[in-house]
Amino acid sequence: MIKRKIETSIYRREIMERKWWHHSVVYQIYPRSFQDSNQDGIGDLRGIISRLDYLAYLGIDVIWLSPVYESPNDDNGYDISDYQAIMAEFGTMEEMEELIEEAKKRNIRIVMDLVVNHTSDEHPWFIEARKNKENPYRDYYIWRDPVNGEEPNGLRSIFSGPAWQLEEQTGQYFLHLYSKRQPDLNWKNKQVRQAIYQMMNFWIDKGIGGFRMDVIDMIGKEPDKEITSNGPKLHEYLQEMNQATFGDKNLMTVGETWGATTEIAKLYSNPKRNELSMIFQFEHIGLDQQEGKDKWDLKPLSISELKKVLSKWQTSLGNEGWNSLFWNNHDLPRIVSRWGNDDVYRKESAKMFAILLHMMKGTPYIYQGEELGMTNCPIDDISEAKDIETINMYNERISSGFTKEEILESINAKGRDNARTPMQWNAREHAGFTTGIPWLRVNPNYKEINAEEALADQDSVFYMYKKLIDLRRKHDIIVWGDYELVEETPEHVFAYSRIYEDQRWLVVCNMSSEKQVFTVPREALRIIVSNYPLKQLPDGKVELRPYEAFAVSYTHLRAHET
Ligand code: NOJ
Repeated sequence: MIKRKIETSIYRREIMERKWWHHSVVYQIYPRSFQDSNQDGIGDLRGIISRLDYLAYLGIDVIWLSPVYESPNDDNGYDISDYQAIMAEFGTMEEMEELIEEAKKRNIRIVMDLVVNHTSDEHPWFIEARKNKENPYRDYYIWRDPVNGEEPNGLRSIFSGPAWQLEEQTGQYFLHLYSKRQPDLNWKNKQVRQAIYQMMNFWIDKGIGGFRMDVIDMIGKEPDKEITSNGPKLHEYLQEMNQATFGDKNLMTVGETWGATTEIAKLYSNPKRNELSMIFQFEHIGLDQQEGKDKWDLKPLSISELKKVLSKWQTSLGNEGWNSLFWNNHDLPRIVSRWGNDDVYRKESAKMFAILLHMMKGTPYIYQGEELGMTNCPIDDISEAKDIETINMYNERISSGFTKEEILESINAKGRDNARTPMQWNAREHAGFTTGIPWLRVNPNYKEINAEEALADQDSVFYMYKKLIDLRRKHDIIVWGDYELVEETPEHVFAYSRIYEDQRWLVVCNMSSEKQVFTVPREALRIIVSNYPLKQLPDGKVELRPYEAFAVSYTHLRAHET
Protein backbone atom coordinates (compact mmCIF):
# COMPACT_ATOMS: atom_id res chain seq x y z
CA MET A 1 0.00 0.00 0.00
CA ILE A 2 2.67 2.46 1.09
CA LYS A 3 4.85 1.36 -1.81
CA ARG A 4 2.07 2.08 -4.30
CA LYS A 5 1.55 5.52 -2.89
CA ILE A 6 5.23 6.34 -3.27
CA GLU A 7 5.30 5.07 -6.82
CA THR A 8 2.35 7.24 -7.82
CA SER A 9 3.90 10.31 -6.30
CA ILE A 10 7.22 9.69 -8.05
CA TYR A 11 5.39 9.24 -11.33
CA ARG A 12 3.44 12.43 -10.81
CA ARG A 13 6.50 14.42 -9.90
CA GLU A 14 8.07 13.64 -13.24
CA ILE A 15 5.43 15.71 -14.93
CA MET A 16 5.47 18.11 -11.94
CA GLU A 17 3.12 17.67 -9.07
CA ARG A 18 0.13 19.92 -9.66
CA LYS A 19 -0.56 22.48 -6.98
CA TRP A 20 -3.37 24.97 -6.58
CA TRP A 21 -1.08 27.92 -7.18
CA HIS A 22 -0.09 26.62 -10.61
CA HIS A 23 -3.53 27.57 -11.87
CA SER A 24 -4.15 30.61 -9.68
CA VAL A 25 -4.20 34.31 -10.46
CA VAL A 26 -2.84 36.64 -7.80
CA TYR A 27 -3.96 40.21 -7.14
CA GLN A 28 -1.60 42.50 -5.24
CA ILE A 29 -3.05 45.01 -2.80
CA TYR A 30 -1.02 47.94 -1.55
CA PRO A 31 -3.19 48.55 1.51
CA ARG A 32 -2.27 52.18 2.01
CA SER A 33 -3.74 53.06 -1.37
CA PHE A 34 -6.56 50.58 -1.86
CA GLN A 35 -9.64 51.69 0.08
CA ASP A 36 -10.01 53.91 3.10
CA SER A 37 -12.93 53.11 5.41
CA ASN A 38 -12.43 55.59 8.26
CA GLN A 39 -11.69 58.71 6.26
CA ASP A 40 -8.19 59.33 7.53
CA GLY A 41 -6.91 59.35 3.96
CA ILE A 42 -5.10 56.00 4.40
CA GLY A 43 -6.38 52.70 3.07
CA ASP A 44 -7.16 50.03 5.66
CA LEU A 45 -8.23 46.43 6.26
CA ARG A 46 -11.92 47.26 6.59
CA GLY A 47 -11.63 48.99 3.25
CA ILE A 48 -10.17 45.83 1.70
CA ILE A 49 -12.94 43.71 3.21
CA SER A 50 -15.50 46.03 1.64
CA ARG A 51 -13.96 45.39 -1.80
CA LEU A 52 -13.70 41.60 -1.64
CA ASP A 53 -16.82 41.19 -3.74
CA TYR A 54 -15.24 43.30 -6.46
CA LEU A 55 -12.17 41.04 -6.41
CA ALA A 56 -14.28 37.88 -6.39
CA TYR A 57 -16.16 39.23 -9.42
CA LEU A 58 -12.86 39.86 -11.19
CA GLY A 59 -12.16 36.21 -10.48
CA ILE A 60 -8.80 36.20 -8.71
CA ASP A 61 -7.76 33.35 -6.40
CA VAL A 62 -5.15 34.96 -4.19
CA ILE A 63 -4.47 38.35 -2.65
CA TRP A 64 -0.86 39.28 -2.02
CA LEU A 65 -1.12 41.85 0.72
CA SER A 66 1.78 44.28 0.93
CA PRO A 67 2.84 44.69 4.59
CA VAL A 68 0.15 45.47 7.13
CA TYR A 69 2.32 45.00 10.22
CA GLU A 70 3.16 47.64 12.80
CA SER A 71 5.61 50.06 11.25
CA PRO A 72 6.83 53.64 11.58
CA ASN A 73 6.39 53.84 7.79
CA ASP A 74 9.80 55.03 6.76
CA ASP A 75 9.32 52.76 3.74
CA ASN A 76 5.52 52.37 3.90
CA GLY A 77 5.40 49.20 5.95
CA TYR A 78 8.54 47.54 4.56
CA ASP A 79 10.14 48.63 7.84
CA ILE A 80 8.47 46.47 10.45
CA SER A 81 8.54 47.16 14.17
CA ASP A 82 6.28 44.25 15.19
CA TYR A 83 5.67 41.26 12.91
CA GLN A 84 2.78 40.04 15.02
CA ALA A 85 0.77 43.22 15.27
CA ILE A 86 -1.23 45.21 12.74
CA MET A 87 -0.39 48.82 11.91
CA ALA A 88 -2.90 50.96 13.79
CA GLU A 89 -3.65 53.02 10.65
CA PHE A 90 -4.73 49.81 8.91
CA GLY A 91 -6.84 48.30 11.69
CA THR A 92 -6.63 45.51 14.23
CA MET A 93 -5.65 41.86 14.44
CA GLU A 94 -9.38 41.00 14.67
CA GLU A 95 -9.95 42.78 11.37
CA MET A 96 -7.03 40.89 9.86
CA GLU A 97 -8.59 37.62 10.94
CA GLU A 98 -11.90 38.78 9.54
CA LEU A 99 -10.21 39.58 6.23
CA ILE A 100 -8.72 36.08 6.05
CA GLU A 101 -12.14 34.56 6.85
CA GLU A 102 -14.13 36.75 4.49
CA ALA A 103 -11.65 36.10 1.70
CA LYS A 104 -11.87 32.37 2.34
CA LYS A 105 -15.65 32.50 1.96
CA ARG A 106 -15.02 33.80 -1.55
CA ASN A 107 -12.34 31.18 -2.28
CA ILE A 108 -9.61 33.76 -2.04
CA ARG A 109 -6.41 33.09 -0.13
CA ILE A 110 -4.34 35.79 1.54
CA VAL A 111 -0.61 35.74 0.95
CA MET A 112 1.32 37.88 3.42
CA ASP A 113 4.39 39.93 2.64
CA LEU A 114 7.35 38.56 4.59
CA VAL A 115 9.97 41.25 5.13
CA VAL A 116 12.81 39.52 6.93
CA ASN A 117 15.95 40.83 5.30
CA HIS A 118 15.64 43.78 7.68
CA THR A 119 13.42 45.22 10.39
CA SER A 120 12.56 48.77 11.37
CA ASP A 121 15.00 50.54 13.68
CA GLU A 122 11.99 50.70 16.03
CA HIS A 123 11.75 46.92 16.28
CA PRO A 124 12.41 45.90 19.93
CA TRP A 125 15.30 43.70 18.71
CA PHE A 126 17.08 46.71 17.27
CA ILE A 127 16.21 48.98 20.18
CA GLU A 128 17.97 46.43 22.39
CA ALA A 129 20.79 45.69 19.96
CA ARG A 130 21.92 49.28 19.65
CA LYS A 131 22.19 49.79 23.44
CA ASN A 132 25.62 48.22 23.90
CA LYS A 133 27.94 45.61 22.46
CA GLU A 134 27.09 43.06 25.12
CA ASN A 135 23.34 43.18 24.63
CA PRO A 136 21.92 39.71 23.86
CA TYR A 137 20.24 41.15 20.74
CA ARG A 138 23.42 42.82 19.45
CA ASP A 139 24.19 39.94 17.11
CA TYR A 140 20.66 40.03 15.60
CA TYR A 141 22.06 42.75 13.34
CA ILE A 142 25.31 43.30 11.46
CA TRP A 143 27.86 45.52 13.23
CA ARG A 144 31.38 46.40 12.16
CA ASP A 145 34.15 48.61 13.50
CA PRO A 146 35.15 51.64 11.46
CA VAL A 147 38.07 51.22 9.08
CA ASN A 148 40.44 54.21 9.20
CA GLY A 149 37.70 56.17 10.91
CA GLU A 150 35.25 55.49 8.08
CA GLU A 151 32.66 53.00 6.84
CA PRO A 152 33.90 49.39 6.96
CA ASN A 153 33.68 49.12 3.16
CA GLY A 154 32.10 50.62 0.07
CA LEU A 155 28.70 48.87 0.17
CA ARG A 156 25.95 51.20 -1.04
CA SER A 157 22.35 51.37 0.08
CA ILE A 158 19.72 50.72 -2.58
CA PHE A 159 18.09 53.91 -1.31
CA SER A 160 21.27 55.99 -1.99
CA GLY A 161 24.34 56.69 0.12
CA PRO A 162 26.50 54.25 2.09
CA ALA A 163 24.94 51.03 3.44
CA TRP A 164 26.67 51.58 6.78
CA GLN A 165 25.41 53.86 9.54
CA LEU A 166 27.53 54.85 12.50
CA GLU A 167 25.96 54.25 15.88
CA GLU A 168 27.67 56.95 17.99
CA GLN A 169 26.94 55.29 21.29
CA THR A 170 28.99 52.17 20.60
CA GLY A 171 31.27 53.50 17.89
CA GLN A 172 30.30 50.75 15.44
CA TYR A 173 28.50 50.83 12.12
CA PHE A 174 25.41 48.76 11.36
CA LEU A 175 24.46 47.53 7.90
CA HIS A 176 21.34 48.76 6.10
CA LEU A 177 20.97 47.80 2.46
CA TYR A 178 17.80 49.94 2.35
CA SER A 179 17.10 53.05 4.44
CA LYS A 180 19.10 53.69 7.61
CA ARG A 181 15.87 53.03 9.45
CA GLN A 182 15.84 49.48 8.01
CA PRO A 183 18.79 47.68 9.69
CA ASP A 184 19.67 44.32 8.10
CA LEU A 185 19.09 41.21 10.18
CA ASN A 186 21.97 38.84 10.73
CA TRP A 187 20.78 35.55 9.25
CA LYS A 188 23.95 33.82 10.40
CA ASN A 189 22.53 33.99 13.91
CA LYS A 190 20.45 30.87 14.53
CA GLN A 191 18.28 32.66 17.09
CA VAL A 192 17.26 35.20 14.44
CA ARG A 193 16.26 32.44 12.07
CA GLN A 194 14.31 30.59 14.75
CA ALA A 195 12.47 33.77 15.78
CA ILE A 196 11.49 34.39 12.15
CA TYR A 197 10.24 30.83 11.67
CA GLN A 198 8.16 31.12 14.83
CA MET A 199 6.63 34.31 13.55
CA MET A 200 5.88 32.68 10.20
CA ASN A 201 4.12 29.83 11.98
CA PHE A 202 2.04 32.36 13.91
CA TRP A 203 0.70 33.60 10.57
CA ILE A 204 0.35 30.13 9.06
CA ASP A 205 -1.80 29.19 12.06
CA LYS A 206 -4.06 32.10 11.24
CA GLY A 207 -4.94 30.39 7.96
CA ILE A 208 -3.03 32.42 5.40
CA GLY A 209 -2.29 31.11 1.91
CA GLY A 210 1.45 31.70 1.91
CA PHE A 211 4.17 34.33 1.73
CA ARG A 212 5.66 36.77 -0.73
CA MET A 213 9.24 37.12 0.43
CA ASP A 214 10.72 40.57 0.23
CA VAL A 215 14.27 40.73 -1.25
CA ILE A 216 14.81 37.17 -0.06
CA ASP A 217 17.89 36.80 -2.27
CA MET A 218 19.75 39.02 0.21
CA ILE A 219 19.47 36.96 3.38
CA GLY A 220 22.64 35.02 2.61
CA LYS A 221 24.76 38.17 2.30
CA GLU A 222 28.48 38.30 3.06
CA PRO A 223 28.94 42.01 3.78
CA ASP A 224 32.69 41.74 4.34
CA LYS A 225 33.11 40.37 0.84
CA GLU A 226 30.60 42.92 -0.45
CA ILE A 227 28.27 40.10 -1.52
CA THR A 228 24.68 41.21 -1.05
CA SER A 229 22.52 38.84 -3.10
CA ASN A 230 22.88 35.12 -3.83
CA GLY A 231 25.23 34.58 -0.92
CA PRO A 232 26.64 31.12 -0.19
CA LYS A 233 24.13 30.15 2.51
CA LEU A 234 20.97 31.50 0.87
CA HIS A 235 19.54 28.18 -0.26
CA GLU A 236 20.52 26.42 2.93
CA TYR A 237 18.50 28.99 4.89
CA LEU A 238 15.52 28.64 2.58
CA GLN A 239 15.51 24.87 2.92
CA GLU A 240 15.71 25.23 6.66
CA MET A 241 12.84 27.75 6.59
CA ASN A 242 10.77 25.48 4.37
CA GLN A 243 11.19 22.63 6.80
CA ALA A 244 10.51 24.71 9.88
CA THR A 245 7.40 26.42 8.53
CA PHE A 246 5.37 26.00 5.34
CA GLY A 247 7.02 22.91 3.82
CA ASP A 248 4.23 20.44 4.55
CA LYS A 249 1.35 22.93 4.48
CA ASN A 250 0.43 23.24 0.79
CA LEU A 251 1.04 26.99 0.80
CA MET A 252 2.27 29.28 -1.94
CA THR A 253 5.59 31.08 -1.63
CA VAL A 254 7.11 33.57 -4.00
CA GLY A 255 10.51 35.14 -3.54
CA GLU A 256 11.48 38.60 -4.73
CA THR A 257 14.87 38.00 -6.36
CA TRP A 258 16.13 40.88 -8.49
CA GLY A 259 19.27 39.28 -9.85
CA ALA A 260 17.92 35.78 -10.58
CA THR A 261 18.92 34.01 -13.77
CA THR A 262 16.98 31.01 -15.05
CA GLU A 263 19.55 28.69 -13.45
CA ILE A 264 19.18 30.45 -10.12
CA ALA A 265 15.38 30.30 -10.47
CA LYS A 266 15.60 26.52 -10.60
CA LEU A 267 17.51 26.48 -7.33
CA TYR A 268 14.65 28.28 -5.66
CA SER A 269 11.68 26.68 -7.33
CA ASN A 270 12.59 23.14 -8.33
CA PRO A 271 10.01 21.21 -6.30
CA LYS A 272 12.62 18.58 -5.49
CA ARG A 273 14.70 21.12 -3.58
CA ASN A 274 11.97 22.11 -1.11
CA GLU A 275 12.47 25.85 -1.17
CA LEU A 276 9.85 28.13 -2.77
CA SER A 277 6.93 27.75 -5.18
CA MET A 278 8.28 30.39 -7.55
CA ILE A 279 10.23 33.63 -7.71
CA PHE A 280 9.78 37.06 -9.22
CA GLN A 281 12.54 37.47 -11.76
CA PHE A 282 13.24 40.99 -13.02
CA GLU A 283 15.24 40.50 -16.19
CA HIS A 284 12.52 41.97 -18.42
CA ILE A 285 12.01 44.84 -15.98
CA GLY A 286 15.62 46.01 -16.43
CA LEU A 287 15.41 46.27 -20.21
CA ASP A 288 14.77 50.01 -20.28
CA GLN A 289 17.72 51.00 -18.14
CA GLN A 290 21.24 51.69 -19.33
CA GLU A 291 23.74 48.87 -19.06
CA GLY A 292 25.61 48.88 -15.76
CA LYS A 293 23.68 51.89 -14.44
CA ASP A 294 20.59 52.00 -12.29
CA LYS A 295 16.89 52.20 -12.96
CA TRP A 296 16.85 55.98 -13.21
CA ASP A 297 19.16 55.95 -16.24
CA LEU A 298 16.64 55.49 -18.96
CA LYS A 299 16.86 53.92 -22.38
CA PRO A 300 14.07 52.92 -24.76
CA LEU A 301 12.80 49.36 -24.58
CA SER A 302 13.82 47.07 -27.42
CA ILE A 303 10.91 44.78 -28.25
CA SER A 304 13.30 42.18 -29.66
CA GLU A 305 15.07 42.05 -26.30
CA LEU A 306 11.77 41.71 -24.49
CA LYS A 307 10.79 38.78 -26.72
CA LYS A 308 14.16 37.16 -26.17
CA VAL A 309 14.11 37.52 -22.39
CA LEU A 310 10.51 36.48 -21.79
CA SER A 311 10.83 33.54 -24.18
CA LYS A 312 13.96 32.38 -22.41
CA TRP A 313 12.09 32.36 -19.09
CA GLN A 314 9.12 30.59 -20.67
CA THR A 315 11.22 27.77 -22.06
CA SER A 316 14.08 27.32 -19.59
CA LEU A 317 12.42 26.22 -16.39
CA GLY A 318 10.70 23.10 -17.72
CA ASN A 319 9.75 20.81 -14.87
CA GLU A 320 12.45 22.26 -12.66
CA GLY A 321 10.76 25.50 -11.73
CA TRP A 322 7.76 27.72 -12.14
CA ASN A 323 7.38 31.25 -13.48
CA SER A 324 5.58 34.19 -12.01
CA LEU A 325 4.19 36.57 -14.62
CA PHE A 326 3.96 40.29 -13.99
CA TRP A 327 4.32 43.75 -15.49
CA ASN A 328 3.51 45.75 -12.40
CA ASN A 329 3.88 46.00 -8.67
CA HIS A 330 4.11 48.73 -6.04
CA ASP A 331 7.76 49.43 -6.98
CA LEU A 332 7.27 49.72 -10.74
CA PRO A 333 5.70 52.29 -13.05
CA ARG A 334 2.35 51.48 -14.64
CA ILE A 335 2.80 49.28 -17.71
CA VAL A 336 0.48 51.27 -20.04
CA SER A 337 2.56 54.37 -19.41
CA ARG A 338 5.86 52.53 -19.44
CA TRP A 339 5.75 50.42 -22.58
CA GLY A 340 2.27 51.04 -23.93
CA ASN A 341 0.38 54.18 -24.77
CA ASP A 342 -1.49 55.90 -21.97
CA ASP A 343 -3.08 58.40 -24.30
CA VAL A 344 -5.06 57.49 -27.47
CA TYR A 345 -4.47 53.75 -27.20
CA ARG A 346 -4.67 53.38 -23.44
CA LYS A 347 -7.38 50.72 -23.48
CA GLU A 348 -5.97 48.88 -26.47
CA SER A 349 -2.46 48.76 -25.09
CA ALA A 350 -3.57 47.84 -21.56
CA LYS A 351 -5.56 44.92 -22.99
CA MET A 352 -2.68 43.91 -25.25
CA PHE A 353 -0.33 43.67 -22.25
CA ALA A 354 -2.97 41.65 -20.44
CA ILE A 355 -3.33 39.16 -23.29
CA LEU A 356 0.43 38.92 -23.84
CA LEU A 357 1.07 38.04 -20.20
CA HIS A 358 -1.99 36.03 -19.25
CA MET A 359 -1.61 33.63 -22.16
CA MET A 360 1.89 32.70 -20.96
CA LYS A 361 2.91 29.83 -18.72
CA GLY A 362 3.22 30.73 -15.04
CA THR A 363 1.21 32.32 -12.26
CA PRO A 364 0.00 35.79 -13.27
CA TYR A 365 0.02 38.73 -10.85
CA ILE A 366 -2.23 41.75 -11.25
CA TYR A 367 -1.31 44.89 -9.34
CA GLN A 368 -4.27 46.94 -8.07
CA GLY A 369 -5.61 49.25 -10.75
CA GLU A 370 -3.84 47.38 -13.56
CA GLU A 371 -7.22 45.82 -14.34
CA LEU A 372 -8.51 49.35 -14.97
CA GLY A 373 -5.56 50.41 -17.11
CA MET A 374 -4.46 52.93 -14.48
CA THR A 375 -1.58 55.15 -15.61
CA ASN A 376 1.51 56.85 -14.18
CA CYS A 377 0.98 60.12 -12.36
CA PRO A 378 3.69 62.64 -13.26
CA ILE A 379 4.85 65.36 -10.85
CA ASP A 380 6.26 68.84 -11.51
CA ASP A 381 8.27 69.22 -8.34
CA ILE A 382 10.00 66.94 -5.86
CA SER A 383 7.82 68.33 -3.06
CA GLU A 384 5.00 66.19 -4.50
CA ALA A 385 6.96 62.94 -3.99
CA LYS A 386 6.35 60.72 -0.97
CA ASP A 387 8.57 57.74 -1.72
CA ILE A 388 11.83 57.52 0.21
CA GLU A 389 13.73 55.95 -2.68
CA THR A 390 12.70 58.77 -5.01
CA ILE A 391 13.46 61.55 -2.52
CA ASN A 392 16.88 60.16 -1.56
CA MET A 393 17.84 59.70 -5.20
CA TYR A 394 16.73 63.25 -6.01
CA ASN A 395 18.93 64.73 -3.27
CA GLU A 396 21.89 62.57 -4.23
CA ARG A 397 21.63 63.47 -7.91
CA ILE A 398 21.13 67.17 -7.25
CA SER A 399 24.35 67.22 -5.27
CA SER A 400 26.20 65.35 -7.99
CA GLY A 401 25.22 67.90 -10.63
CA PHE A 402 22.13 66.54 -12.43
CA THR A 403 19.51 69.13 -13.36
CA LYS A 404 16.05 69.10 -11.78
CA GLU A 405 14.54 68.45 -15.20
CA GLU A 406 16.70 65.39 -15.79
CA ILE A 407 15.84 63.94 -12.42
CA LEU A 408 12.13 64.63 -12.76
CA GLU A 409 12.14 62.89 -16.12
CA SER A 410 13.52 59.77 -14.43
CA ILE A 411 11.06 60.05 -11.55
CA ASN A 412 8.10 60.40 -13.86
CA ALA A 413 9.25 57.38 -15.84
CA LYS A 414 10.26 55.09 -12.97
CA GLY A 415 9.35 56.56 -9.56
CA ARG A 416 7.47 54.25 -7.22
CA ASP A 417 4.72 56.77 -6.41
CA ASN A 418 3.40 56.23 -9.95
CA ALA A 419 1.95 52.90 -8.88
CA ARG A 420 1.00 54.03 -5.39
CA THR A 421 -1.58 56.70 -6.13
CA PRO A 422 -4.94 55.71 -4.64
CA MET A 423 -7.12 53.15 -6.35
CA GLN A 424 -9.65 54.82 -8.61
CA TRP A 425 -13.07 53.48 -7.64
CA ASN A 426 -15.43 56.07 -9.06
CA ALA A 427 -15.72 59.63 -10.40
CA ARG A 428 -16.59 61.19 -7.06
CA GLU A 429 -14.18 63.25 -4.98
CA HIS A 430 -10.80 61.52 -4.41
CA ALA A 431 -11.96 58.74 -6.73
CA GLY A 432 -14.01 57.12 -3.97
CA PHE A 433 -10.81 56.13 -2.18
CA THR A 434 -11.51 58.38 0.81
CA THR A 435 -13.59 61.37 1.79
CA GLY A 436 -10.63 62.59 3.85
CA ILE A 437 -7.38 63.94 2.44
CA PRO A 438 -5.60 61.13 0.58
CA TRP A 439 -2.07 60.43 1.84
CA LEU A 440 -0.86 60.62 -1.77
CA ARG A 441 -2.59 62.62 -4.46
CA VAL A 442 -5.18 60.86 -6.64
CA ASN A 443 -4.31 60.70 -10.31
CA PRO A 444 -6.32 63.54 -11.94
CA ASN A 445 -7.55 61.15 -14.65
CA TYR A 446 -9.84 59.34 -12.18
CA LYS A 447 -12.99 60.82 -13.72
CA GLU A 448 -12.42 58.74 -16.88
CA ILE A 449 -10.47 55.85 -15.40
CA ASN A 450 -12.25 54.21 -12.50
CA ALA A 451 -13.80 50.91 -11.47
CA GLU A 452 -17.41 52.08 -11.61
CA GLU A 453 -16.97 53.24 -15.19
CA ALA A 454 -15.14 50.03 -16.11
CA LEU A 455 -17.81 47.79 -14.61
CA ALA A 456 -20.47 49.56 -16.63
CA ASP A 457 -18.62 49.10 -19.92
CA GLN A 458 -18.45 45.57 -21.33
CA ASP A 459 -15.56 46.68 -23.49
CA SER A 460 -13.40 47.90 -20.60
CA VAL A 461 -9.92 46.77 -19.59
CA PHE A 462 -11.54 45.23 -16.49
CA TYR A 463 -13.60 42.79 -18.54
CA MET A 464 -10.52 41.78 -20.51
CA TYR A 465 -8.80 40.79 -17.26
CA LYS A 466 -11.93 39.03 -16.06
CA LYS A 467 -12.11 37.08 -19.28
CA LEU A 468 -8.44 36.11 -19.20
CA ILE A 469 -8.76 34.86 -15.62
CA ASP A 470 -11.79 32.85 -16.62
CA LEU A 471 -9.99 31.36 -19.64
CA ARG A 472 -7.12 30.20 -17.44
CA ARG A 473 -9.60 28.42 -15.22
CA LYS A 474 -11.15 26.61 -18.17
CA HIS A 475 -8.19 25.71 -20.34
CA ASP A 476 -5.33 23.51 -19.23
CA ILE A 477 -3.33 24.62 -22.24
CA ILE A 478 -2.85 28.05 -20.63
CA VAL A 479 -1.55 26.55 -17.42
CA TRP A 480 0.41 23.59 -18.74
CA GLY A 481 1.00 24.06 -22.45
CA ASP A 482 4.50 24.37 -23.88
CA TYR A 483 5.59 27.74 -25.21
CA GLU A 484 7.17 28.48 -28.58
CA LEU A 485 8.12 31.91 -29.86
CA VAL A 486 7.14 32.70 -33.45
CA GLU A 487 10.47 33.92 -34.77
CA GLU A 488 9.61 35.39 -38.14
CA THR A 489 7.65 38.49 -37.25
CA PRO A 490 8.13 42.24 -37.61
CA GLU A 491 10.12 43.67 -34.68
CA HIS A 492 7.02 45.07 -32.99
CA VAL A 493 4.94 41.93 -33.16
CA PHE A 494 5.27 39.53 -30.25
CA ALA A 495 3.72 36.21 -31.26
CA TYR A 496 3.94 32.79 -29.64
CA SER A 497 2.25 29.43 -29.60
CA ARG A 498 1.07 27.32 -26.73
CA ILE A 499 0.95 23.59 -27.33
CA TYR A 500 -0.80 21.01 -25.20
CA GLU A 501 -2.01 17.51 -26.08
CA ASP A 502 -3.87 17.89 -29.36
CA GLN A 503 -4.23 21.64 -29.11
CA ARG A 504 -2.21 24.54 -30.43
CA TRP A 505 -2.99 28.16 -29.72
CA LEU A 506 -1.42 31.20 -31.31
CA VAL A 507 -1.10 34.51 -29.49
CA VAL A 508 -0.32 37.60 -31.57
CA CYS A 509 0.37 41.06 -30.11
CA ASN A 510 1.18 44.27 -31.89
CA MET A 511 3.30 46.20 -29.40
CA SER A 512 3.21 49.49 -31.30
CA SER A 513 0.87 52.30 -32.25
CA GLU A 514 1.57 51.60 -35.94
CA LYS A 515 -0.12 49.01 -38.08
CA GLN A 516 1.88 45.82 -38.55
CA VAL A 517 1.55 42.99 -41.01
CA PHE A 518 1.63 39.46 -39.69
CA THR A 519 1.09 36.18 -41.46
CA VAL A 520 -1.03 33.69 -39.60
CA PRO A 521 0.50 30.32 -40.51
CA ARG A 522 -2.75 28.47 -41.12
CA GLU A 523 -6.44 28.94 -40.84
CA ALA A 524 -7.52 29.33 -37.26
CA LEU A 525 -10.45 27.46 -35.85
CA ARG A 526 -11.67 29.74 -33.18
CA ILE A 527 -10.98 33.12 -31.64
CA ILE A 528 -10.18 32.71 -27.97
CA VAL A 529 -9.77 36.36 -27.05
CA SER A 530 -9.08 39.64 -28.82
CA ASN A 531 -8.90 43.33 -27.97
CA TYR A 532 -10.52 44.55 -31.18
CA PRO A 533 -13.70 43.16 -32.69
CA LEU A 534 -12.59 40.49 -35.18
CA LYS A 535 -15.13 40.11 -37.96
CA GLN A 536 -13.57 36.95 -39.29
CA LEU A 537 -10.98 34.41 -38.32
CA PRO A 538 -7.49 35.66 -39.10
CA ASP A 539 -6.17 33.82 -42.13
CA GLY A 540 -2.94 34.37 -44.07
CA LYS A 541 -1.68 37.93 -44.10
CA VAL A 542 -3.40 40.09 -41.51
CA GLU A 543 -3.01 43.76 -40.83
CA LEU A 544 -2.76 44.32 -37.11
CA ARG A 545 -4.19 47.58 -35.83
CA PRO A 546 -2.38 49.65 -33.15
CA TYR A 547 -1.79 47.43 -30.12
CA GLU A 548 -4.06 44.78 -31.55
CA ALA A 549 -3.78 41.43 -29.79
CA PHE A 550 -5.58 38.14 -30.14
CA ALA A 551 -5.32 34.46 -29.35
CA VAL A 552 -6.73 31.83 -31.68
CA SER A 553 -6.88 28.06 -31.51
CA TYR A 554 -6.05 25.59 -34.23
CA THR A 555 -7.59 22.38 -33.11
CA HIS A 556 -10.81 21.15 -31.64
CA LEU A 557 -11.80 22.39 -28.28
CA ARG A 558 -14.01 20.20 -26.21
CA ALA A 559 -17.67 21.14 -26.41
CA HIS A 560 -17.93 22.57 -22.91
CA GLU A 561 -15.09 25.01 -23.48
CA THR A 562 -16.05 28.38 -24.80
C1 NOJ B 1 11.25 45.42 -1.95
C2 NOJ B 1 9.90 46.01 -1.76
O1 NOJ B 1 9.07 45.61 -2.80
C3 NOJ B 1 10.10 47.51 -1.68
O2 NOJ B 1 8.89 48.21 -1.72
C4 NOJ B 1 10.88 47.81 -0.44
O3 NOJ B 1 11.19 49.18 -0.41
C5 NOJ B 1 12.18 47.01 -0.38
N1 NOJ B 1 12.03 45.65 -0.77
C6 NOJ B 1 12.74 47.02 1.00
O4 NOJ B 1 11.94 46.26 1.86
